[in-house]
Amino acid sequence: MAARVRALTRRPAWKALQAHYKQVRTRHLRDLFADDAQRGERLTAEVAGLYLDYSKNRVTDETVELLLQLAEESSLRERIDAMFRGEKINVTEGRAVLHVALRAPRGASIVVDGDNVVPHVHAVLDKMAAFATRIRGGEWKGHTGKRIRNVINIGIGGSDLGPVMAYEALRHYSDRALTFRFVSNVDGTDFAEAVRDLDPAETLFIVSSKTFTTLETMTNAQSARDWSLQALGGDTAAVAKHFVAVSTNGTKVAEFGIDTANMFEFWDWVGGRYSMDSAIGLSTMLAIGPENFRALLDGFQQMDEHFRSAPFKRNLPVLMGLLTVWYSNFFGAQTVAVLPYDQYLKRFPAYLQQLTMESNGKRVTLEGKAVTYDTGPIYWGEPGTNGQHSFYQLIHQGTRLVPCDFIAFSQSLNPLARHHAMLLANVLAQAEALAFGKTADQVRAEGTPDWLVPHRVFDGNRPSNMILAERLTPALLGALVALYEHSVFVQGVIWQLDSFDQWGVELGKVLAQRIIPELESREERELGHDSSTNNLIRRCRRRG
Ligand code: F6P
Repeated sequence: MAARVRALTRRPAWKALQAHYKQVRTRHLRDLFADDAQRGERLTAEVAGLYLDYSKNRVTDETVELLLQLAEESSLRERIDAMFRGEKINVTEGRAVLHVALRAPRGASIVVDGDNVVPHVHAVLDKMAAFATRIRGGEWKGHTGKRIRNVINIGIGGSDLGPVMAYEALRHYSDRALTFRFVSNVDGTDFAEAVRDLDPAETLFIVSSKTFTTLETMTNAQSARDWSLQALGGDTAAVAKHFVAVSTNGTKVAEFGIDTANMFEFWDWVGGRYSMDSAIGLSTMLAIGPENFRALLDGFQQMDEHFRSAPFKRNLPVLMGLLTVWYSNFFGAQTVAVLPYDQYLKRFPAYLQQLTMESNGKRVTLEGKAVTYDTGPIYWGEPGTNGQHSFYQLIHQGTRLVPCDFIAFSQSLNPLARHHAMLLANVLAQAEALAFGKTADQVRAEGTPDWLVPHRVFDGNRPSNMILAERLTPALLGALVALYEHSVFVQGVIWQLDSFDQWGVELGKVLAQRIIPELESREERELGHDSSTNNLIRRCRRRG
């Protein structure tokens, strides 16, 4: 672990930010822009094809300086180095945190417990590539000799959200002869609907689970096995042709009946929500091919290198992480809206929810002390322009401050008449409207009657980041995901959290295990829960 740092609220930069906040909280973006003609070009940073314009944030140069000072006082540099060195910075689980090793170039060296892990990473990537080539080329046949046309990833959380998001995001690059589905929910509807129109003889299941013990995944995998075997004559030899596994747990994979030769490995130093570029991305590689997958990894790696080595003042993940701290802890913002203006990124906000909230939704520090400040904000969002016709009203005129991350591409992958100009015009207009608003004088000047004026005023001064790139490519997606991964890291370092454990998901799992037999039992059992839970269990048993 890095050298001890002072408690967050005792750091000089924190105190200075508190005082500074009082001075700047009423300053309007209109004035900040009016005072500095270059602001929109100055408060920008660029790397790996991603251009970040953070000028529409409620910051002055002094704010940025103080936030950077806070990063220094929080030993951010040391913590970044510790992560890249493979130190066990996930202290509560005693693990290294090395998703950056997943995209390290062949020949790099990152040592965990005396072992250079990079050759292992590339061995698995090579195995994935060979497998993907056989499936995509029709060489890998199902049990009856038919080629595989459908791929179903079974997984949940990090073993689902990354694969789904990446598949949707990179659909443009995918092999359209293959059908991809993703089953995550233990609700049988998810599985039933996913397989309804598929031929088991042409269907491959990828059972993706780091632990290979997750209730939802194992239940769905069992149903998938039954569904396949029933249609394929009950011969268990069919499992080898229709099931592969992605896991860290070879023993459990073998117990399930999947040949470990058909298992793609990853390691305990890869957190579930940081695993979409590990073997968990097998479905992604099957969809877009090994070459595009390598381009995706290159994009991740470019952002890693930037995060590791760029000065903080032009380091995109550092700037974005610090801005989130600024709004969460000083303005009291409760959420961050992520608003991609690209239909292919429709699952990106959902993906980010696990990445951000499972990482920084914590109430104690690394040392187990209760924090005295807010930690991880709620991330949410929808693609534009859809969100504009739904919740933007609140962002523009509501009482809450909602910092927004807009994501846009100057070129469309589907240029169609004037659609793209309209899409881009909308994202630019939203950021402009949020920042500058519309004053009562402007509203009146349009001839609005006095009684209606307050309703039509936009206060403005609502902050946003604009992340602009040329085209959505595999490399670009890698850089974008890594940007958020590292931004989350920055926030966690400032807040002194273990961003890599997730103890908060345990209790519900344990209680569910207790309730399952109570629901399934033939006899009425004595229930030992609270009166509400007892009553609800009884109602469910009556199917009422
Ligand atoms: O319940 C939360 C969680 O542990 C996530 O962190 C993880 O991504 C998900 O469950 C799935 O876990 P596994 O890959 O082990 O099935």
